[in-house]
Amino acid sequence: MRDGTPTLIRLEDYVAPIYWIRTVELSFDLDPAKTLVTSKMQIQRNAAVPHGPLRLHGEELTLLRVLINGESVSFRQEGHELIIEGAPDADFTLEIRNTCAPEKNTALSGLYTSGGGFFTQCEAEGFRRITYFLDRPDVMAVYTVTLRADQAKYPVLLSNGNLLETGELDNGRHFAKWHDPFPKPSYLFALVAADLVSREQRIRTRAGKDHLLQVYVRRGDLEKTEHAMNSLIASVVWDEARFGLPLDLERFMVVGVSDFNMGAMENKGLNIFNTSALLASAATATDADFHRIESIVAHEYFHNWTGNRVTCRDWFQLSLKEGLTVFRDQEFSQDMAAAPSARAVCRIQDVRALRSGQFPEDAGAMAHPVRPDSYVEINNFYTATVYNKGAEVVRMYQTLVGRAGFEAGMKLYFERHDGQAVTCDDFAAAMADANPGSALATRLEAFKRWYVQAGTPRVQARGSYDAETQTYTLTLRQTLPDTPGQTHKQAQVIPVAMGLLGADGQALPLQLQGEAAAQGSERVLVLEQLEQSFVFVNVASAPVPSLLRGFSAPVLLDDGLSDTELLMLLQHDADAFNRWEAGQRLALARIIGAVRAGAALQLDAAFIQAMRAVLRHAELDPAFKALALTLPDEAYIAEQLAAAGHSVDPQAIHAAVEAAHIQLADALHEDWAWAFDAHQVRGGYQPTPQQAGQRALSNQALSMLVLHATRSGTTVWPGRAYQRFKDASNMTDRLGALSALVNAHAELAVPALERFHAQFRHEPLVVDKWFALQGRAAEVDGKTFARVKQLTQHPDFTLKNPNRARSLIFSLCMFNPAAFHRSDAAGYVFWAEQVLQLDAINPQVAGRLARVMDRWNVLAQPYRDAAREAIARVAAKPELSNDVREIIERALA
Ligand code: ARG
Ligand code: ZN
Repeated sequence: MRDGTPTLIRLEDYVAPIYWIRTVELSFDLDPAKTLVTSKMQIQRNAAVPHGPLRLHGEELTLLRVLINGESVSFRQEGHELIIEGAPDADFTLEIRNTCAPEKNTALSGLYTSGGGFFTQCEAEGFRRITYFLDRPDVMAVYTVTLRADQAKYPVLLSNGNLLETGELDNGRHFAKWHDPFPKPSYLFALVAADLVSREQRIRTRAGKDHLLQVYVRRGDLEKTEHAMNSLIASVVWDEARFGLPLDLERFMVVGVSDFNMGAMENKGLNIFNTSALLASAATATDADFHRIESIVAHEYFHNWTGNRVTCRDWFQLSLKEGLTVFRDQEFSQDMAAAPSARAVCRIQDVRALRSGQFPEDAGAMAHPVRPDSYVEINNFYTATVYNKGAEVVRMYQTLVGRAGFEAGMKLYFERHDGQAVTCDDFAAAMADANPGSALATRLEAFKRWYVQAGTPRVQARGSYDAETQTYTLTLRQTLPDTPGQTHKQAQVIPVAMGLLGADGQALPLQLQGEAAAQGSERVLVLEQLEQSFVFVNVASAPVPSLLRGFSAPVLLDDGLSDTELLMLLQHDADAFNRWEAGQRLALARIIGAVRAGAALQLDAAFIQAMRAVLRHAELDPAFKALALTLPDEAYIAEQLAAAGHSVDPQAIHAAVEAAHIQLADALHEDWAWAFDAHQVRGGYQPTPQQAGQRALSNQALSMLVLHATRSGTTVWPGRAYQRFKDASNMTDRLGALSALVNAHAELAVPALERFHAQFRHEPLVVDKWFALQGRAAEVDGKTFARVKQLTQHPDFTLKNPNRARSLIFSLCMFNPAAFHRSDAAGYVFWAEQVLQLDAINPQVAGRLARVMDRWNVLAQPYRDAAREAIARVAAKPELSNDVREIIERALA
């Protein structure tokens, strides 16, 4: 925060707390302008560490009084600390009274108001904005909470745990008293006081216990909570079935709020959700929204064990809960998808997100290990590395010890650590100890380098076949790129799932030299040296290797395969992920070739024919086809160029991708027309993978058809798209048709956008889509950029609501490279203005926007100098938050 001194917090400086807070009784007299907080804590000295003063955290609070054992005590305030030197040795009671101002809290951290209600967000360090406390995750207390508020305005009063008592008070106020029996760190505290209604469901779990599930939302949103409730029930069932982890509370509540800094928060028994991650109806939400809601509801629910029952010792261990919980929600989504093809689609989507979000982070100014070793502002480290690369690390444990071994490791982890605040090392030890002699246990220390070394490892694979001896030698080499503050890294443990394909595409049996017989046709090689060779024997003919199946490690792979070999994998690989990957590699090679040659991209007949074959394939899943026909993300292409030492010209990349896009639209015109007609969903809307796949492919086809038509000046397909836009019975198809028109800059896009806004202006989440669609629209002659600037003046636009800010500003700056990176630098100037404006309102969201410039360093000229200048302009402002300052200083370092 602005008035705190920015200090670098380091993992190596961790010391256990000098005091424990065992229980806390909190009471709130809720008032938007001035809320009175009373906190009564039972405190115990930690005998294991040297004595010292009691230092409590507090920010933006007005302190009214401090009592120890009922007597006033001397204290001082220094920065964001309240320091008491004379605390007694024996257990004591500390009572504090303070006020805070929820309606002024635009940072949305701590206690704030939204839509006329009170809500909290305490992770990571928001609790100290409510009252003075030992606001660190290794201090776990039992909470009893009394809420008092105006009954008419705030009829619903919620906090963690079980409801003990409610009643009326004078002056139209009422109260509710809650008790949470589970000791928890302050970041898991929550309260809600608002005018809400709830969907309720009683369930009986396998263990035979009854539970009440509730989803609280504003009046009018109740019919949009069915999907969230279903997802919650499915999550409860899944965690019990897969990991033997039951729901431990009689009552589990989920609350939606429309002003929220992230997706959702796993507060014990009282999860608070961004409405965008909770509310869905066929009319207002897309298939992607339904899928996202299912996975976030699951994620927060799964945190109840991986995060809450076992939590983090300190914030450097964040991936202990986040990486593990993302892994669990990914596994859940795959199990929900059920069909093997739908599981592969889930995996492809997760890998796409990793590559376009995490790979650039791991190569840029903010690169940090899965367990960072220092930070200024912890909110800046809720990153793709901690979450998504962290999940890949957890997935590698499972790959190394097997599914049953992983489940045994989880069991041991909970046996050892239930109720504790622990470290990533504790998790690793449980996994290894539960699987003695395994591929993990025998190289645990080396494996743990994944937590310590930043950067995406690069793996080069080269094979050579010897016809005479019928052997195939596969040589794998790894290189670990330097990252800020880290050079000369040690080899990492990289599981490479693989198979070999014979001449006509059949899977070959795999027998390594020294083995008595072949062991199936797929196996996991463990690369742990900088270079290692694996010799396969009894290989009848030169094979094509299929490596890193299912994306078995988060690395950049160079397998040196030829087009012919990739085409063969695209057709025949038994691993659906690698089939998709082969198609992506073919596309990538063409795009990168054109960018590097500085020439216009011209797709060859072989590639187009391969794409046609995928599109027309008789057995492939429509969802898979849609992904296979989607070109690689521009951010990922940029990373490929940067990794090969080339500077990045976002306009050249975009031009090549656009050319490929247009040529696929033109060359496959008839195939797209067929695909559109052949994948219409009959019957009512269901957000199932089957229906979603059909819609994904038909909407992709429609956008290709409209693109082709607007370029060739024909009107049939734009007309059909407009009709479909008007008549669609669900948001996926409506938005699909609208974006086909908008991205092709068809004339009909203008009336369609107007109509859409008029129709949905009372649905904030749909208005967000309206802004986002325009912010992400394909750039032509600066039109998109100009439109976005104009939209910042739209009456519905505001930076105060994070969803709205993201919908327009982030869409442009983060997801629309061609509109953002302009040779006149206007995109960067716009970015700097928005970062500064946002920073005065909400540092966390501003910090995230600041991250857009992470990779300025690899940009080609004139972008590079212009970007640096814009960053320097932000850096020159004295009033920056710690959040933005840390990002900006790292960028300039
Ligand atoms: N723990 C939350 C989750 O489930 C996210 C909290 C993010 N907090 C923050 N300050 N960015 O992922
Ligand atoms: Zn999480």
